[in-house]
Amino acid sequence: MKCTVHASKNFVIGTADKRLFSSFVEQLGRCVYGGLYEKDHPLSDEDGLRSDVIKLVKDLDIPMVRFPGGNYVSNHRWEDSVGPIDERPVRLDLAWKALDPNTFGIKEFIDWCKKVGTEPMMALNLGTRGIDAAKDLVEYCNHPGGTALSDLRKSHGSEAPYNIKMWCLGNEMDGPWQVGHKTADEYGRLAAEVGKAIKLFDPSLELVACGSSNSDMPTFPSWEETVLEHTWEVADYLSLHMYFRNDEDDTETFLASSKKMDQFIETVVHVCDYVQAKKRSKKTMYLSFDEWNVWFHSNEQDKTEPKWNVGKHLLEDVYTFEDALVVGCLLNSLLRHCDRVKVACLAQLVNVIAPIMTEEGGPSWAQTIYWPFYYASKYGRGEVLDIRLDVPTYKNHHYGEVPYADAVLVYHAEEQELDLFVVNRSLDETMEISLDAIGFPTQLKLIEHILLHHTDLKASNDRDNPEHIKPVVMDITREPYKAPRQSWNLFRFS
Ligand code: AHR
Repeated sequence: MKCTVHASKNFVIGTADKRLFSSFVEQLGRCVYGGLYEKDHPLSDEDGLRSDVIKLVKDLDIPMVRFPGGNYVSNHRWEDSVGPIDERPVRLDLAWKALDPNTFGIKEFIDWCKKVGTEPMMALNLGTRGIDAAKDLVEYCNHPGGTALSDLRKSHGSEAPYNIKMWCLGNEMDGPWQVGHKTADEYGRLAAEVGKAIKLFDPSLELVACGSSNSDMPTFPSWEETVLEHTWEVADYLSLHMYFRNDEDDTETFLASSKKMDQFIETVVHVCDYVQAKKRSKKTMYLSFDEWNVWFHSNEQDKTEPKWNVGKHLLEDVYTFEDALVVGCLLNSLLRHCDRVKVACLAQLVNVIAPIMTEEGGPSWAQTIYWPFYYASKYGRGEVLDIRLDVPTYKNHHYGEVPYADAVLVYHAEEQELDLFVVNRSLDETMEISLDAIGFPTQLKLIEHILLHHTDLKASNDRDNPEHIKPVVMDITREPYKAPRQSWNLFRFS
C-alpha cells in the first residue's frame, strides 16, 4: 500500500515543548525502592542510586519528572519525607496498601534529578491536606532562607533552594478511589485557594489543576468546566490522564488507541476555550498530559500481592512489541497537539508500568516501549507540521474508520532536517512512503531509516534477552521508504 505525506513549510501546528518527553516517578511498588534506589546493589552509588538505571534514564533525555504521586500523594505528609533518614516515620500508604518507609524523600529525589539531569515537577496533597501543608512545602523547597521552613531545609543539608517550577494541585481528585476524593466544586475551590497562596509567594511558579482521570469518567467533561471556572486565574495547565489496554486481544483496535487520545485532547481543548470565552479572558489554558501509557498486563497479578510491604511487585507490566507500536502512536498524538499540550509524562519510569525494568541485585534493561520514546525525545523537539496523509483506511470496532498510517512530521530549521515518525498499522501489508513537502530550501534526501519491527506482536524483552526488541538502522540503499507491516519507523530527511 502507498502512503503519501503532504506537508508545507508554512503549515505549522506548533513547536514541540521539550517537556512533552517528561516522565513520572511515584512512590509505588518498585519504582523507587528496588528501582531507582537500591542501597545494596553492586552498581549503586554512595546515595544508594542505581547507576545502571541512571544511565538508561539519561539516555532518554527526560526534561522533567513528576513526583511523588499519583494516588500516593493524596494521603502523604511531606514532613515525613525530610530530615535525618533514620528519624523518618514509617507510614501506611492507603493508596497502594503498602508500607512507606520515607527513606527516599524530597532531598533524595532532588539529588537524583540532578544526577540524571532532569527537573522536578512536584505534586501536592489536596486529598487529605490543604492550603497550609501546600504553602509550607513550597516554602520549604523554594524559599532561599531566613524563615522557619527554608532554614529547616538548610539544616537538612540543602543550602540552596530547590526552585521547583511546576506544581500539581493534587492528583485525580475526580476519582472515587482517591483518598480525599472531592466533587468538582469542592476541589475547584480548594485548588483555587492553594493556587492563590502559591502565586502570592511566587507568581512565576506554574500550576496544574486536575482534569479528569480519563475520558470515561461519568463526570467528564463537566468536571473540567467546573474546575476551570474556579481555578482559571491561578492555573496554567489542566491535567489529562489516560491509560490504554488490549483486554480483547484486538490488535487493529488497540493500534488505533491514538484516536482516543486525539479525541480526549481535542474535547479538553474545547472545554478550556469555552470557559475562556465565558470569562471573556485573553488567557490560553494549556494542557499537561501528566499520566499516559499502556497499562493492563499486570492487573491480575497485582490482586495477589500481599499488603503492607515495602517495594511490592505492583503494576509490573511486561511490554510487548505491540505495546511499543501503540506507544509510538500515542507519542504522535501528543506531538500533533503540541500547540496546546505543553507537558506530557510517560507513566511511569522504572518497574511500575515503565520503559525500564530492574531485577533486585541484578541487571536492568529497556522494555519495548523504551524505543519509540527514546527516538521521539531525540528527534521530536522541533516544529510539528500540519500534514495530510493520503493512505487507505480500515474499519474497527471502537474508532470507526482509521488510517493505516499514524504519522507526524517534525521540522528542525537549524539542521534543515525533516523527521517523519510513522506507524504502519497494517498487519499484512508493507507501506511505501512518499513525502510531498513544499517550501523547503534544499532537495530533501532520505538520510536515515530507523525501524522497530517484529513478526511476533507479543514478543518482549527480559533480563535474559534484553535486546530482543530493539530498533535497527536500515540500509537505505536497498528498499528505501518502506515501512514493513506492523512497524514503527523514523525516516530522517535532509
Ligand atoms: O500511574 C499509576 C496510577 O494511575 C497513579 O497513581 C494514578 O494517578 C493513576 O490512576
